[in-house]
Amino acid sequence: MPRIDLSSSELLRVIARRRSIRRFTRKPLSLMEVSLLLWSGYGCVDEFCERRTVPSAGATYPLDLYLVAYPGGVTGLSPGIYRYDGYKNGLWLVRMGDFRREMYRACLDQSWVRDSRVNIVITVVPERTTSWYGERGIRYIYMEAGHSGQNIYLVATLLGLGTVTVGAFYDDMIRDLIGLPSNNMVLYVMPIGYPRG
Ligand SMILES: Cc1cc2nc3c(=O)[nH]c(=O)nc-3n(C[C@H](O)[C@H](O)[C@H](O)COP(=O)(O)O)c2cc1C
Repeated sequence: MPRIDLSSSELLRVIARRRSIRRFTRKPLSLMEVSLLLWSGYGCVDEFCERRTVPSAGATYPLDLYLVAYPGGVTGLSPGIYRYDGYKNGLWLVRMGDFRREMYRACLDQSWVRDSRVNIVITVVPERTTSWYGERGIRYIYMEAGHSGQNIYLVATLLGLGTVTVGAFYDDMIRDLIGLPSNNMVLYVMPIGYPRG
């Protein structure tokens, strides 16, 4: 096959540069950076939000993304938990507060979850997809979280930020922290900040 020429495309360079980052500086993110990260993860790409930035089985879109912003994590945003609204590309406050300790504990004491500036939490309401596809819909929801997580990885890389997909956590602790009903699943926690070292 022909040699890959990374100089031909920014997208190819971003794909090649993507790495899991677990050490962060204290520099806050801007609201524009948060907006780009969440939009790439699950934003809408048409006026009526019929399609999003990621593929979805039957366009059922089972995911919900949450932002956990730490104190001083995002310039102009109070610390707390927010639900991402893809229709408006906006944030709805769920709970105000500093949840660094709770997130760290819930993620088996992984320090990057505590020392990041924000975490994006990818959750899913399986019934949105399984009501159409039955049991097979279960495999689809995991695939879709992967699409969303990869977009966030790539846009973080593009912006000079770092992130890592964390899959090891106590489901109930994250669910309770966000206030999700028991039929929702938490699939990924993604700590994000400017890379250190
Ligand atoms: C499903 C999944 C779960 C993961 N869970 C964790 C985790 O709990 N903690 C962590 O630090 N990294 C986690 N990772 C990141 C991997 O360790 C990382 O992707 C791998 O070492 C390859 O490195 P790279 O992403 O820099 O290419 C996870 C990755 C995937 C795909």
